[in-house]
Amino acid sequence: MKITKICCIGAGYVGGPTMAVIAQKCPHIQVTVVDLNEQRIKDWNDPNTDNIPIYEPGLSEIVAEARGRNLFFSTEVEKAIDEAQVIFISVNTPTKTYGKGKGMAADLKYIELCARQIAKVAKQNKIVVEKSTLPVRTAEAIKSILDNTGNGVQFQILSNPEFLAEGTAVTDLLNPDRILIGGDTTPEGEIAIKALVDVYANWVSEDKILTTNVWSSELSKLTANAFLAQRISSINAMSELCEKTGADVSEVAKAIGMDSRIGPKFLKASVGFGGSCFQKDILNLVYIAKSYGLNEVADYWEQVIIMNDHQKRRFSNKIVQTLYNTVADKKITFLGWAFKKDTNDTRESAAIYVADDLINEQAKISVYDPKVSRNKMLSDLDYLETRTAEQNSKSLAIFDDPYEACRGSHAIAILTEWDEFTTYEWKKIYDSMHKPAFLFDGRNILNAKELESIGFIYKGIGS
Ligand code: UDX
Ligand code: ADP
Repeated sequence: MKITKICCIGAGYVGGPTMAVIAQKCPHIQVTVVDLNEQRIKDWNDPNTDNIPIYEPGLSEIVAEARGRNLFFSTEVEKAIDEAQVIFISVNTPTKTYGKGKGMAADLKYIELCARQIAKVAKQNKIVVEKSTLPVRTAEAIKSILDNTGNGVQFQILSNPEFLAEGTAVTDLLNPDRILIGGDTTPEGEIAIKALVDVYANWVSEDKILTTNVWSSELSKLTANAFLAQRISSINAMSELCEKTGADVSEVAKAIGMDSRIGPKFLKASVGFGGSCFQKDILNLVYIAKSYGLNEVADYWEQVIIMNDHQKRRFSNKIVQTLYNTVADKKITFLGWAFKKDTNDTRESAAIYVADDLINEQAKISVYDPKVSRNKMLSDLDYLETRTAEQNSKSLAIFDDPYEACRGSHAIAILTEWDEFTTYEWKKIYDSMHKPAFLFDGRNILNAKELESIGFIYKGIGS
């Protein structure tokens, strides 16, 4: 079976970049990305590809190359489903905010809607690929909907989790560590798996393409994210101990990372991990474990989240304590709002929670982030429902210029590791601030000694 037409439902952080790279690498395949959100599709079709809705280094160039050739963005969901042989589901699966499993389980309403829509429209056999991170056994639910509400056509369900990290999505997609494809072990399942393997084989060497059964593939994605997040919580736990004992967490991380069994990656102590995946996937894992009565397994993984929440709160507490136990009416400047550098995504960013804590202490927050819009920051705070939108907009001042954001502030907090922060004229910033001038480096990216020699009272994480 040769794939010539792909449809992807969901033009978000996963669907958009993934399909752009497939289209670039497979000019013989027509790739149509659809979304219910008209504005999002309009933005993907903006004649100036610098205005596409997702910022990722290298992405706008790929979109410029492939869009209109074999890459299309559209709101015509049914037409795209009807025409495609393969349908990727890349819709969002947030943590449930209501009902059973509230705050833990993944909300599958968007997935179910997709499955029903595919079942309604499909008049020929289709391969349906789960791309979104999903609880184990979701494929079964999708299959049941497709088989029982469809027009009698055959569906093969594959699990093909995405491992890209935001900020490096394009390089991750171009040079993946592995591609994972899970499918049925029936002859039809194997044909479907092979068809998808052939798509990726256009640019990924076959020894990096792993095929498994559906459940292994689904669980591998949750496990990978749980392990990565666990490393961060582990080093963050050590950061607190380092602060008490006089050890330096960066030195500890370097020392343990040189053990080839441990490895150096994902050992950077920080104000806490954010992003759309880690917390959601671990909560989901915890929920699944509990639903099978595996309470020790559930508690084990839940501790990763507990530690992360503690780290965020510990950072805001440290700011308050250091500023003589009161930040009321003090100006505190945040450099960075995104959950990591090189992305405009703010989902679960530590900045949101630290800002919330400090505003509760009646601080005035000023923010500069090179890529995050004013509306996004305010809507992140509004989403917490701690206070009204009006109160939030009074407590958060957003600047386009970092020097203006810092002027007259009592303290600066680094919340995102944007490279540009290391290139600032820190002496100039220091001179414009209230004294004593404090700098809380939640990412350990600045040079402590240099800043202290200027006059800053510098506090990093874990030293
Ligand atoms: C993650 C996984 O890495 C990716 O494979 C999966 O597909 C989606 O989830 P992402 O959330 O985009 O990707 O970014 P990642 O680089 O993993 O960073 C997540 C968070 O951890 C960020 O807030 C980052 O700043 C933080 N982090 C990362 C640390 O605090 N310390 C580290 O050492 C590494
Ligand atoms: P992710 O990080 O998983 O890509 P996003 O929220 O960035 O998540 O993107 C998911 C996209 O899926 C959103 O743009 C949303 O509008 C879209 N979406 C959700 N449900 C449907 C649906 N039934 N049909 C089409 N698009 C959908």
